Amino acid sequence: MRVVVDRVSKTYTDRLGHGVAALDDVSLAVGSEEFLALLGPSGCGKSTLLNIVAGLTAPSAGGVYLEGGLAPGRAATAMVFQEFALFPWRTVQANIEFGLEEAGLGAAARAARAREHVQLTGLAGFEGKYPHQLSGGMRQRVGIARALAVDPAVLLMDEPFSALDAQTRQLMQEELLAIWERTRKTIVYVTHNIQEAVFMADRVVVLSRRPGRVLATIPIALGRPRTEAMLGAPAFAAAADRIWSLIRSQAQAALREGMA
Ligand SMILES: Nc1ncnc2c1ncn2[C@@H]1O[C@H](COP(=O)(O)OP(=O)(O)OP(=O)(O)O)[C@@H](O)[C@H]1O
Ligand SMILES: [Mg+2]
Repeated sequence: MRVVVDRVSKTYTDRLGHGVAALDDVSLAVGSEEFLALLGPSGCGKSTLLNIVAGLTAPSAGGVYLEGGLAPGRAATAMVFQEFALFPWRTVQANIEFGLEEAGLGAAARAARAREHVQLTGLAGFEGKYPHQLSGGMRQRVGIARALAVDPAVLLMDEPFSALDAQTRQLMQEELLAIWERTRKTIVYVTHNIQEAVFMADRVVVLSRRPGRVLATIPIALGRPRTEAMLGAPAFAAAADRIWSLIRSQAQAALREGMA
């Protein structure tokens, strides 16, 4: 399924009634089965854009179009959140089944689907555990399994690994890419980490600071499957340097404004 974001702007109204411009005229397209990273500084509107694509937030202007047929019973989008957002009173299995209950699946079908995603995400043996009994990495496996269990055409991920330590994060990145190779979802992956964006994505869309505008779209000329060795490849450095120079000029502008 293709995602088309067409001239989307979003202005929130804060508690004092003032307008807060979060996104300004953002257009982009995500190809079917593409892995697109959305990168930008803190507060630039990344989560807002993801929520608009998910249909959870209405844009102030513009629109989002999901193009391509959807089989009956299949979800268009599913979200994986930064803070894992698991139900603490539910076991791993019951967390994974949540979206399937919402979709009205029977108990046997839910259990079968959950089993499949427990295997896919490396959670075998943990089905009966509660979130507080799991490490951060295992918790986010549950978040991913829960999102994938509803078989969404588009997987939306909002800084899913930012709460993890660097080593766990690298492992989870590689595992997510392996899962993506097998399931071939369209993925929109939000991050503010340049290395992570370049390592995972086919293209990186760089957003300006708030209100978020598209500064550039950078294609990543690295083959697949991606491996840790590619972190040292010239194509990796070239893409990361280019993104860093865009981000740095934004940060310098912010600093100048702060001093004025
Ligand atoms: N419900 C809301 N009401 C008012 N302002 C909001 C609301 N949600 C977000 N904002 C503001 O809109 C801007 C963009 O927020 P958003 O959460 O989309 O940014 P972000 O890029 O995801 O940030 P972060 O990197 O911190 O996750 C911020 O200035 C934020 O304070
Ligand atoms: Mg955010």
